[in-house]
Amino acid sequence: MKIVFATHNPNKLKEVKELLPSNIILLSLDDIGCFEEIPETGKTLEENAKIKADHITKQYGLDCFSDDTGLLIDALDGAPGVYSARYAGPKKNASDNMAKVLKKLDGIQNRSAHFKTVIHLNLAGEAHSFKGVVEGTITEKAIGTGGFGYDPIFKPEGFSKTFGELPLDIKNEISHRGRAIQKLVSFLEKRM
Ligand code: IMP
Repeated sequence: MKIVFATHNPNKLKEVKELLPSNIILLSLDDIGCFEEIPETGKTLEENAKIKADHITKQYGLDCFSDDTGLLIDALDGAPGVYSARYAGPKKNASDNMAKVLKKLDGIQNRSAHFKTVIHLNLAGEAHSFKGVVEGTITEKAIGTGGFGYDPIFKPEGFSKTFGELPLDIKNEISHRGRAIQKLVSFLEKRM
């Protein structure tokens, strides 16, 4: 079985490849000759994941899945949410994004937040969706140098360290993306 993962990110591809059974051949966008940036014009994570997977399935006639992730902060009514990558501007700068969050939460007691990943899968003419969530809190300042994006300001529930401090294998086990991928993998294993 061949499936496209609609990503240009080699780290994401590697992470998923390691979890999939070896009889599933995972192709990246580069592998199928798609070098464009598929526009994420949806207003929700679900819409964006579907837009990307549908684009590939329609243009290339291939089974495909794609993911979209956001950080949703309770006190900010779910912001930055679907706009997480560009929260502080089009440069998609992680330090600027974190600084903006910390400024907005300055003096606010409720620091609850969650990361959410949505995976949309087009397989044999059917659409399927998988979600992964990790609850946590936003710290008062950035701690740790590991991970990426908002990791240094996000402390997952049940842990005293941020994603920026925790080892990658622990993050992958409990993270939003890890959980969504685990659901996708067990679905695909049943279909083999
Ligand atoms: P994407 O949909 O995976 O590209 O994620 C959108 C944005 O959410 C990224 O640019 C990051 O700012 C943020 N993000 C996604 N996943 C993570 C994560 O695991 N840790 C921290 N930030 C993340």
